[in-house]
Amino acid sequence: MKLDFHMPTKVIAEKECVRNNADVFKMGKKALIVTGKCSAKNNGSLDDVIWALDKNNIEYAVFDKVMSNPTVECVYEGAEMAMEEEADFVIAIGGGSPMDAAKAIALLAVSDIDRKDLFSGNIGNKALPMIHIPTTAGTGSEVTPYSILTNHEKQTKTSIAAPCLFPAYALLDAKYMKKLSLKTTVNTAIDSLSHSVEGMMSARANIMADIIAREAIRLLASEFDNLASGEFTDEDREKLLYASMLGGVVISQTKTTAVHAMGYSLTYFKGIDHGRANGLLLGEFMEYTEKFAPEKIHDILDCMGMKTVDEFKAELHKILGETENFVLAELEMYADIANMAGGVKNSIHCPDRSEILEIYKNSLL
Ligand SMILES: [Fe+2]
Repeated sequence: MKLDFHMPTKVIAEKECVRNNADVFKMGKKALIVTGKCSAKNNGSLDDVIWALDKNNIEYAVFDKVMSNPTVECVYEGAEMAMEEEADFVIAIGGGSPMDAAKAIALLAVSDIDRKDLFSGNIGNKALPMIHIPTTAGTGSEVTPYSILTNHEKQTKTSIAAPCLFPAYALLDAKYMKKLSLKTTVNTAIDSLSHSVEGMMSARANIMADIIAREAIRLLASEFDNLASGEFTDEDREKLLYASMLGGVVISQTKTTAVHAMGYSLTYFKGIDHGRANGLLLGEFMEYTEKFAPEKIHDILDCMGMKTVDEFKAELHKILGETENFVLAELEMYADIANMAGGVKNSIHCPDRSEILEIYKNSLL
């Protein structure tokens, strides 16, 4: 047996998690809170964090300019603010975009990295310590060492990774998700499903990650009916948040595969939400992988109480609805881009360019 598993983030999940664990915030003298424009203010998470900081007499500044699919410009601006404010730790509040931006900001605040070198792979291993508070249940970014940013040069999204990007703490409270729209709940849940399923289809899959992925897939499958109907109890929300964190732990070890690499074009060029983009491609990629690793696919289906990939595809269709319109020329371009992406090579069986195009066509035309 060969195993190498490192996930150093301390995870705390409970009701009123932020206020009950205010001592966690005694991490430094001044915090930079990184978040989006509105949601942290509306769902109560920002109030809770400020309450915890005030209780400990810790100063803070708020950088609330993170947009969906954050850009390089945005994270450099945030890092500049961290330096100006002399923040010595970072608190991320939000979904994947604020959490991913916060990691890059924590890195750039203490590392001298030129913009042209940010995606070079040489980013060192120094960042401000971080506390992450997810307010959606999908990304799992609170327990991964990745920051995924829009890369205009390559017309896709690119991940930067370093062990220092693991947050020190992930504080999980499903109360922040109560007001999430059905659309966001569905898209984020399908993203987290994709993380765990891809983790099992990854060339880096290992026995511990598989155990965690199976549990996450089982939990998410038990929510399929609710995702289709739009009815969620507090327990359902907790389950989705827990499964999302588990999916993050999975990909923190295995990385994602061709599904994410191919999905990025749908987001970059068509503005399709990240989780939905993965969901539109996931069934077809499982069918492709089944030809080479049938036992893996049956293991995944088993967790969902299903026998065939077709059954899974029908379930996804019920949840995601009709696919957007695409033309062949678009898919040809997406195939060229995905063919260059590292994520494709991280698949248990890597599709070549013509197979990537075939998966796009079968999924989207
Ligand atoms: Fe994702």
